[in-house]
Amino acid sequence: MGISRGRKKIMKIGIIGTGMLGEAVGLHLLDVGYELIVFNRTKEKTENLKKNGAIVVESPKYVAENSNLVITVVKDADAVNDVIFGSSGVIIGKHDGMCIADMSTVNPNSSKEISKKVTTAGIDYLEIPVMGGPNVAIDGKLVLMASGRKDIFEKFKKVFDAIAEQSFYLGNAGTAHSIKLAMNLQISMLALSLSEGITLTKKAGFDPEIFLKILNSTYFKTGMSEGKAYKMIKENYEPTFTLANLKKDLDTIYDTADSCNAELPMTKLARKIYADAKDAGFGDMDYTGIIAHIAKLSEK
Ligand SMILES: NC(=O)c1ccc[n+]([C@@H]2O[C@H](COP(=O)([O-])OP(=O)(O)OC[C@H]3O[C@@H](n4cnc5c(N)ncnc54)[C@H](OP(=O)(O)O)[C@@H]3O)[C@@H](O)[C@H]2O)c1
Repeated sequence: MGISRGRKKIMKIGIIGTGMLGEAVGLHLLDVGYELIVFNRTKEKTENLKKNGAIVVESPKYVAENSNLVITVVKDADAVNDVIFGSSGVIIGKHDGMCIADMSTVNPNSSKEISKKVTTAGIDYLEIPVMGGPNVAIDGKLVLMASGRKDIFEKFKKVFDAIAEQSFYLGNAGTAHSIKLAMNLQISMLALSLSEGITLTKKAGFDPEIFLKILNSTYFKTGMSEGKAYKMIKENYEPTFTLANLKKDLDTIYDTADSCNAELPMTKLARKIYADAKDAGFGDMDYTGIIAHIAKLSEK
């Protein structure tokens, strides 16, 4: 987290979904002086935010009633539908000038439907998926992709600037989520290629740190090869983004590709590998725990 809290800002922000990402975004918004109202289905996950000054309420409806901007950070499109349109959903707490901004990673086609239903109900709607996990969200250093009405994006830009070090406005509903899926496709493949490189080096009897040292001296290095790969070698799979959630995103990428006739052979294979890893009990690990599943395959 940054240094000290600033003066309270006038804009009230709501967060629905205080899992790993929602909690970190919330802590940072509190840190830079926003008033924060939060809801999470499992209440224990709001305790840290409460300790840091957030108001915890009993339903998404109360979040909406007390916020100008309601940020949803939940698992998938079904969860977004639940928190917006459920019996105590956001839509019941609607008021003039309120906007819902969805930060969850969801199917762009579902997002377009949600956007249409929300805007028809007279509420502004933005898609704001992000790149980067809780470890960077805590310092406001996410990368944010936005779509929806440009004037609404501009209205809340100050908040997005607090959340992210870079924000990209991308156009109509569905666009940001489509680009976000193309991003997560990179994450899934990079974790797989590092897993196989490390496994091959180890099985061949060499120190995988040498593999990483050389890889990171070349054009082919990535943030992942310079960062999490060292944790992968040490078998440290403390989650910042779970393997189960990345598998969920691969399902969404697959469905989205199918809906626009994009043939993605690597995605098909990756989806199966992550699904097998989840079925084998690796779902709650960090997504980089895919290396543990790959390593196990060599033991057979
Ligand atoms: N972690 C990252 O690095 C990262 C980065 C970018 C985007 N994302 C995306 O952000 C979203 C949240 O990710 P996360 O890492 O914070 O996951 P997480 O820790 O697993 O949290 C998931 C959140 O969704 C809520 N939820 C799930 N189903 C729900 C439902 N039907 N109704 C209400 N709430 C529901 C959970 O509530 P409970 O606590 O009650 O289960 C929890 O708050 C996902 O779409 C993920 O793909 C994550």
